[in-house]
Amino acid sequence: MAGILLVTGGSRGIGAATCRRAAKNGYRVAVNYRSDKTAADKLVHELLAGGATAISVHGDVANEADVIGMFDQVSAELGVPTALVNSAGVGGAHMEVAEFELQTLELLMRVNVIGTMLCCREAAIRMSTARGGTGGAIVNVSSMAATIGGRPGNSAYAASKAAVDAFSVGFAKEVGAQGIRVNTVRPGVTLTDMTSTVRDNESVRKAIESTIAMNRTAEAEEMANPIVWLLSDEASFISGARLDASGGGFVIGASTSGK
Ligand SMILES: NC(=O)c1ccc[n+]([C@@H]2O[C@H](COP(=O)([O-])OP(=O)(O)OC[C@H]3O[C@@H](n4cnc5c(N)ncnc54)[C@H](OP(=O)(O)O)[C@@H]3O)[C@@H](O)[C@H]2O)c1
Repeated sequence: MAGILLVTGGSRGIGAATCRRAAKNGYRVAVNYRSDKTAADKLVHELLAGGATAISVHGDVANEADVIGMFDQVSAELGVPTALVNSAGVGGAHMEVAEFELQTLELLMRVNVIGTMLCCREAAIRMSTARGGTGGAIVNVSSMAATIGGRPGNSAYAASKAAVDAFSVGFAKEVGAQGIRVNTVRPGVTLTDMTSTVRDNESVRKAIESTIAMNRTAEAEEMANPIVWLLSDEASFISGARLDASGGGFVIGASTSGK
């Protein structure tokens, strides 16, 4: 048995690909969603049909009571989580600093930063060997945006992901001797609903691709594979790392829309 995995934002995109990959590797999988119950239920149905054990778990990661409820539900229905992937995230509107709106900034930080932190807190409480747990592994999904301040109009989003990076390194040090490994994966532009303008518009996609060393964007599975590997025992001495799944990274100054 690989373990019990909660994936926030597991219903779509990189989170959904992670659920599929983890189920294939034998994890019992909890698929978290916030609003799209249909997508979560459809994925759970698919995983069950493939012989996996899976449940859907409603909860807004920006809401503390929801986060506690999610962990309680997973613990009751599948067992105490041994693995957590924080993939829930929002892109935020394309905004230059002079156009910043408080509400959009607050949502970005609440979901991408505080949501990740609250989920890590609940995981630490349950996984830490210093608190009676059996340890675990956590992957926080950051972004290559954190490394360049984001493409134009994405500085706030980039800042939210830089916060995830810094937090994850500090958290990894704090729980390193408590049986918990913490890492981040930093995706480059990946074709999901979040990047629908890149996915659905060929000229935008080509412009983005020309800024990436490998000259292409990624599929969600190309993020799921390193995420699930980092959760696995094959990565048993890796903690506090930031893994760039970026197609070789940026080669020139970039245009808009990438996350
Ligand atoms: N796609 C990229 O190019 C890219 C690049 C770098 C980093 N990332 C990061 O990768 C992660 C996944 O992105 P994606 O492209 O897979 O996005 P996506 O396709 O838009 O999916 C987002 C997922 O997050 C969930 N979600 C959003 N807000 C939530 C909340 N408050 N509470 C719980 N769940 C919430 C959504 O659930 P509902 O549908 O139910 O709302 C959905 O399952 C994000 O953290 C993103 O910042 C993406």
